[in-house]
Amino acid sequence: MDSLKGRNLLSMADLTRAELHGILELAAQLKAGTKQPKCPNKVLGLVFSKASTRTRVSFSVAMYQLGGQVLDLNAGVTQVGRGEPTADTARVLDRYLDVVAIRTFEQSEIEEFAQYASIPVINALTDLEHPCQILADLLTLKEAFGSLENLTMAYLGDGNNVAHSLMLGCALAGVNVRVATPEGYGPNPAVVNQAKHLSQGRSDVIITTDPKAAAQGSHALYTDVWASMGEESEAASRIPKFQPYQINQTILDMANKQAIVLHCLPAHRGEEITNDVMEGPQSRLWDQAENRLHAQKALLAAILNAV
Ligand code: CP
Ligand code: NVA
Repeated sequence: MDSLKGRNLLSMADLTRAELHGILELAAQLKAGTKQPKCPNKVLGLVFSKASTRTRVSFSVAMYQLGGQVLDLNAGVTQVGRGEPTADTARVLDRYLDVVAIRTFEQSEIEEFAQYASIPVINALTDLEHPCQILADLLTLKEAFGSLENLTMAYLGDGNNVAHSLMLGCALAGVNVRVATPEGYGPNPAVVNQAKHLSQGRSDVIITTDPKAAAQGSHALYTDVWASMGEESEAASRIPKFQPYQINQTILDMANKQAIVLHCLPAHRGEEITNDVMEGPQSRLWDQAENRLHAQKALLAAILNAV
């Protein structure tokens, strides 16, 4: 974990396989209470330009539990919302904070922030990636099956930020990943190639338009909203195209009998997932949401050299 000290997490691909496994191991120890790292006097800034419940609260609670402090610096209460250049904001916040988590639109914005700040920068969601989410997802998968060996993750829906980080994270962890999207809504081809490269032939990275083929025999069925933040105007027109990719009992019956259901949340019940599956026995949605806290606490402890 020494290698993570002072590091950024801008993309899931910033981690090595060993670092990913190290974070998941530490997260499990934090959850079990067998390790209690502390980083008193450290301050985390949350620079968020989009709404958030889970990411904002889990990062805040994680930092409090580590003995540190949190500043909620959303765009509406800072000069970020009035257009102060990223390069200027980065150089100023760098002088006050010890670590910053940023939720914004363009991946290039957090890359620019990281270029101008010497403190660690964490991607708390961009249009391209959501790496912190996938740390929690892999922890949830590992808890359900005891290890990440010989597992297949099926993601049905939009080839979005969550799909991108999930492909990269599964490839790193050696989990087979299948992503099924409607034609024209597939993941970014550059990220698909990156995932194939990261898998080093250990696991499959399969992109398809066939939701049944993706779900068949898989150990986890994962979905996310069909229109992400910033795409609200497309929400209604996407519904008919995405309908065959809904996670419902019929598609769940095609998965492995032990399969778990995942969703990063917030969910639109009746669209990407049915209410009965969300509330059903195979759903791990609330554990998955809880695991955001443990996984991000592990990440912060490693970055801040508290372990
Ligand atoms: N899953 C997730 O990132 O949720 P929030 O948008 O509520 O942070
Ligand atoms: N893909 C969704 C994830 C929300 C946590 C979005 O970007 O809005």
